[in-house]
Amino acid sequence: MNSDLLKKRIMIIGSNGMLGQRLTENYKADSKVELFCCSAEESSFIENVEYLRLDITIKKNVHDAIQQFYPDFIISAAAYTNVDGCETEKELAWKVNVTGVENIARHAILSDAHVIHISTDYVFDGKNGPYSEKDLPNPIGYYGRTKLASENALKTAPIKNTIIRTNVLYGPAKHGRPDFVKWVVNSLRGKKKIRIVTDQINNPTFLDDLVDGINRIIEYKKEGLYNIGGSELLSRYEFTLRIADFFELDKSLIEQIVTSELNQPAPRPLNSGLLNLKAQTELGYRPLSLDFTFSRIKKELDL
Ligand SMILES: NC(=O)c1ccc[n+]([C@@H]2O[C@H](COP(=O)([O-])OP(=O)(O)OC[C@H]3O[C@@H](n4cnc5c(N)ncnc54)[C@H](OP(=O)(O)O)[C@@H]3O)[C@@H](O)[C@H]2O)c1
Repeated sequence: MNSDLLKKRIMIIGSNGMLGQRLTENYKADSKVELFCCSAEESSFIENVEYLRLDITIKKNVHDAIQQFYPDFIISAAAYTNVDGCETEKELAWKVNVTGVENIARHAILSDAHVIHISTDYVFDGKNGPYSEKDLPNPIGYYGRTKLASENALKTAPIKNTIIRTNVLYGPAKHGRPDFVKWVVNSLRGKKKIRIVTDQINNPTFLDDLVDGINRIIEYKKEGLYNIGGSELLSRYEFTLRIADFFELDKSLIEQIVTSELNQPAPRPLNSGLLNLKAQTELGYRPLSLDFTFSRIKKELDL
């Protein structure tokens, strides 16, 4: 039978996360997709979806979940994402970010599933960005080390796989911690001073652009490594000014600082960012303009 006539069976792991929620909303609305959501919490943040509580660090549970749903595609978006926490909770960070992905990779074979795994620009040291897929990783913090190890776990497994590197996700995730845009808007509207770094450069990625990139990978069944980043390379300070301009906020409340002033446990890649050329040419990926993404957030979150 023509496989285009069959519904695609898509399993999202980490469905309650910032990206996971957006993916869930997207596929829930797609009549050509049979959806199965898994995350660490008791229930799904997005209602009316098939949901299973799943701890990816437990091998048997991953096995049973995959065997239960028999996915064509697994989107691996669960992770321990607290960059500073990774420095102090190394064992947990490794368990979730590496052992968890090993468990997914090992059991994806049960249904011959294609695993699409989300990684990060934190695999780089930030000396020479923006980075292409050909640049050599050199993580400077433990989070980046675990994510690089997760990429390797997947690449060496005998399964169909795609690794997507992305950076600074933002967008209208309705549950959990606010994204950077919502945080800036709420802080400045509340007349709160915010301190923003001028020396971290990257191309912040709108959640819907990443969802679009994932859709294209599924549609074209592309394997390998792809960068999916935003449309503009800019410092976090410049990004904040653009948010303030769009939402007509008081820019005098934004104080410029450098990363070293924050004394964070984890070092940050400073000159980072991801080149989208491969995704543009092979997938037709075109990230939305910053202002358009802000307008979508404004509308959806009623900001
Ligand atoms: N956010 C960014 O700026 C960014 C940038 C580059 C790459 N990425 C990557 O993109 C992916 C998605 O990021 P995100 O921002 O959506 O992350 P997130 O909001 O932190 O979501 C991660 C999800 O994974 C769940 N999780 C944690 N441990 C788990 C476990 N043992 N078993 C099952 N689920 C578990 C979390 O549940 P709890 O919340 O209950 O722990 C959460 O729902 C991650 O792989 C991340 O490394 C993110």
